[in-house]
Amino acid sequence: MYVLGLGGLILGVLDFVAAAPHRPRAPQYVVNQDRADAVKQAFQTSWDGYYLYAFPHDSLRPVSDGYADDRNGWGASAVDALSTALVMGNWPVVRQILEFIPEINFDNTTTEVSLFETTIRYLGGLLSAYDLLTGPLDGQINETVQVEAILKQAKRLADNLKVAFDTPSGVPDNGLFFNPPRKSGSTTNGIATIGTLVLEWTRLSDLTDDVEYGRLAQKAESYLLHPQPPLGEPFPGLLGSDVNLTTGLFVNGNGGWGGGTDSFYEYLIKMFLYDPDRFGEYRDRWITAADSSIKYLVSHPTTRPDLTFLAMWRNQTLHFVSEHLACFNGGNFILGGLVLDEPSYIELGLALTEGCRATYSSTATKIGPEAFRWQDLSRAPEDVTHNPPPPAGQQRFYDVAGFWITNGGYVLRPEVIESYYYAYRATGDPKYQEWAWEAFVAVNETCRIGSGYSGVRDVNQQGGGGFFDFQESFWFAEVLKYSYLIHAEDAPWQVKSDHTNQFVYNTEAHPVRLAKGREGGRARRSGIV
Ligand SMILES: *[C@@H]1O[C@H](CO)[C@@H](O)[C@H](O)[C@H]1NC(C)=O
Ligand SMILES: *[C@@H]1O[C@H](CO)[C@@H](O)[C@H](O)[C@H]1NC(C)=O
Ligand SMILES: *[C@@H]1O[C@H](CO)[C@@H](O)[C@H](O)[C@H]1NC(C)=O
Ligand SMILES: *[C@@H]1O[C@H](CO)[C@@H](O)[C@H](O)[C@H]1NC(C)=O
Ligand SMILES: *[C@@H]1O[C@H](CO)[C@@H](O)[C@H](O)[C@H]1NC(C)=O
Repeated sequence: MYVLGLGGLILGVLDFVAAAPHRPRAPQYVVNQDRADAVKQAFQTSWDGYYLYAFPHDSLRPVSDGYADDRNGWGASAVDALSTALVMGNWPVVRQILEFIPEINFDNTTTEVSLFETTIRYLGGLLSAYDLLTGPLDGQINETVQVEAILKQAKRLADNLKVAFDTPSGVPDNGLFFNPPRKSGSTTNGIATIGTLVLEWTRLSDLTDDVEYGRLAQKAESYLLHPQPPLGEPFPGLLGSDVNLTTGLFVNGNGGWGGGTDSFYEYLIKMFLYDPDRFGEYRDRWITAADSSIKYLVSHPTTRPDLTFLAMWRNQTLHFVSEHLACFNGGNFILGGLVLDEPSYIELGLALTEGCRATYSSTATKIGPEAFRWQDLSRAPEDVTHNPPPPAGQQRFYDVAGFWITNGGYVLRPEVIESYYYAYRATGDPKYQEWAWEAFVAVNETCRIGSGYSGVRDVNQQGGGGFFDFQESFWFAEVLKYSYLIHAEDAPWQVKSDHTNQFVYNTEAHPVRLAKGREGGRARRSGIV
């Protein structure tokens, strides 16, 4: 089985080489209407359960038909579902959400606010809906006052969040309390929570003609573009995880493409796509990080040299660990390769996507685990701390699968399907639609429970080993959106392979319109060392 997989990968690479120096042939996309409709049905089921038992709270507890206010009680699932309802053309749900948005009281909450989570889910969801309804879906909603209310609410929310940046360095405190808005008093912040604000806050500035929002996020980002001291950049472009709010200095050199640091790298190339005139330096830093990843981090498990993962690091010591969250990296390398016309990034992105697929196809449920590990003796010597063999109980699993499971949960995360989506849009190869469909069918089978869908405890047990009784809002924003778009008709918001993108997806899968409305021809690579 995996010999065939390896053959496919080599052929795919040769295809690319054969097409050089010209761009690869424009992919031909195939619509799978039945599959797109099945995903729409899952969206409707999830929404109906949420609307009946949880709305206007944040999240549905589908087993107990209850709710949670895990994102400050502003209706997180409704706001996160809006851009998906829009691209699916689900107008009854769109109207329910648009009636609700002006009612949200963004001045008040009784619990701590996360600047990062609020930005990617609420602010990103609102800006995306506004961009879709004033762009390709202009005229679909007659009540223009409802459309204008979306932007007003986005601005009101950001005005309450702004105080987070009021630190000596300008690196924000990720924690806030409201009534009145004030910082939580953290002393450090992580590079993902610092570096995954700049798209949403810059977009808000561009839409409101108020430069302050973008300026705040870009100032914070400047410490990540110019990391100090050297401890903070163990490999060129690859950083530590945390920054001191007083000084803007890195406090460690531990990192990876996983949770806590991941979307900092993701947004570097996405900002360049958003506006190449203003964000050329972000592109340069993404290239530096990508090239270092190829040079230092690419890793193949001892038992499955055909699989490709990226190692994580503590200073310059590699750790052969990864996680579901990191599986966005395939899609991000593919996007970088498309935007920069660099086939080697696409090639690595496809290999990483295939590696993450193996984490799905190897388990009892055919869903990938939250965290996993492998051994790599070509990158580092065997070492009980940094490069251990698998625990005895997982040796047989490792022999076949090429990784062992360190956390078997699945909380309705999107990253593997997200990378299938980019792989499909870059190549048009229908195998990625098959993989996305297999993943959707597996998640539908294992996670469908009660009034919706829930995360499960152990993907390597038939049935998932028990439910968390929780339907995350990103199930609506991300899993259902990417699962749908890969089978759906082409549209202005779909990712393009030929420099005609009109949208860039934030890390919560909300499509944000490019600054100039459209990608501006070939990316310029001049000025890159
Ligand atoms: C804020 O919300 C809480 C909980 O809903 C409520 O008890 C409180 O009165 C509200 N405060 C304001 C100022 O609206
Ligand atoms: C918008 O208004 C037109 C004309 O009044 C009407 O025909 C159409 O159904 C309305 N569309 C929506 C989405 O309400
Ligand atoms: C942050 O920097 C300040 C000023 O140098 C220092 O007093 C503080 O201990 C540092 N905090 C952390 C968590 O490194
Ligand atoms: C990384 O390097 C710093 C500075 O040399 C050192 O203090 C720290 O203990 C190292 N961290 C790890 C995890 O090795
Ligand atoms: C998803 O699950 C539901 C409920 O078990 C089932 O009716 C439906 O056919 C499933 N859809 C797919 C595509 O497997």
